[in-house]
Amino acid sequence: MIANIPLGFKAKAMSTRLLSFALGVVSLAVVLVYFDNSSVEIFSIHRLENETSALTDEIQESTMIPLPGGAIGPESFSFDGNGDGPYTGVSDGRIIRWRANESRWVDFAVTSPIRDGCEGRHDHSQTEHICGRPLGLRFNENTGDLYITDAYMGLLAVGPNGGVASPLAQQLDGLAFGFTNSLDIDHNTGVVYFTDSSTRFPRRNYVSVIISGDDTGRLMKFDPVTNKTTLLLNNLKFPNGVALSKNGDFLLFVETTTCRLFKFWLKSPKAGNLEVLAQLPGFPDNVKRNSIGEFWVGINSRRGKLLQWVVSNSWIGNGLIRVCPVDVTKVHSCLGGVMGGMGMGVRLDKDGNVVEVLDSGKGKRWKFVSEVEEYDGNLWVGSVTRSFVIKQKLPMSLD
Ligand SMILES: *[C@@H]1O[C@H](CO)[C@@H](O)[C@H](O)[C@H]1NC(C)=O
Ligand SMILES: *[C@@H]1O[C@H](CO)[C@@H](O)[C@H](O)[C@H]1NC(C)=O
Ligand SMILES: *[C@@H]1O[C@H](CO)[C@@H](O)[C@H](O)[C@H]1NC(C)=O
Repeated sequence: MIANIPLGFKAKAMSTRLLSFALGVVSLAVVLVYFDNSSVEIFSIHRLENETSALTDEIQESTMIPLPGGAIGPESFSFDGNGDGPYTGVSDGRIIRWRANESRWVDFAVTSPIRDGCEGRHDHSQTEHICGRPLGLRFNENTGDLYITDAYMGLLAVGPNGGVASPLAQQLDGLAFGFTNSLDIDHNTGVVYFTDSSTRFPRRNYVSVIISGDDTGRLMKFDPVTNKTTLLLNNLKFPNGVALSKNGDFLLFVETTTCRLFKFWLKSPKAGNLEVLAQLPGFPDNVKRNSIGEFWVGINSRRGKLLQWVVSNSWIGNGLIRVCPVDVTKVHSCLGGVMGGMGMGVRLDKDGNVVEVLDSGKGKRWKFVSEVEEYDGNLWVGSVTRSFVIKQKLPMSLD
């Protein structure tokens, strides 16, 4: 009987089946990302005793600072040599600077000379490959130059007066950066350590990097004396935030897909060694060091067990990306707006051991956290998706 069915009909039946399979997978993905938060287990090598610490209760003053001109996504912060700022990169490609004495943002720099149609209230993710999407920011303390990792423009730098940033590196060994993400600077040598999260998916498809199990990410360094870029580690799964220890003997970085925090030794007899420090309870983004040498890790959202299963079976995620009739990242961020993200900040001691987790419980607005920058008695909390910056006053001492 089957042989009598016309070929066209068979093909149609096939595509219908494929479509329903695809829809099924999409629904599954939605469930995975959003409804799988019930049984969260925090398992750290250095076990986290109390998820919500006393510190959360002690934080009193919290200010929401809206971004100007319809921009969203203040991903990362940096303060200049005079302690002014913070500076942050936003969705329309601008790097803006907070003038505390005037309570307003002013334009500082851009990563692309093309600015037509970049700003204003529209979906900036459609133009970010042209307008730029600055993510990581760090001032070189000695030169006053601001180093920038832009998701589309690579590694750039701009002088202390801002303007259009100059590209420094956009590829390594003939392989173009696809999603340049985060950086830190060794202030003794000026060497910049930075990550490229994927050569396969651009930033706007970051959910695909996770569910596909993509492992094309790289950790690299750029030496401003020789202008040379060097590979430190490759085959990483969504390498993201990177932060150097205070004396530069090691750096910490995270893999967003695996929720792992790594310590990579740069100096001492251990140079070149890679250690897994912790398995984090959610998807980590940036890592920042404070003035006493501790670290903060921003956690975007929690990861439940089902999603973990998808991540460890990359054929599911890859199948999803191949057949999916809709943009997974869009579904993710759209639902996220409604459901909330349960973001967190994780504090680590100077050796990189987890000592504290601040979460979004008790009415705190810690959702989709990309970064926690501790500066001068305040925490500045960034996010990839939100339209404001959170500034929270710290209690007298964290110790
Ligand atoms: C965790 O909380 C319990 C009860 O609130 C307390 O007794 C314990 O000392 C806390 N542990 C740490 C490591 O803070
Ligand atoms: C605020 O500080 C900046 C320098 O950081 C200065 O140029 C500006 O004039 C100051 N504004 C006011 C109103 O004092
Ligand atoms: C490195 O690049 C800068 C700016 O692009 C240039 O001025 C400098 O001469 C270069 N240095 C070397 C060693 O090529």
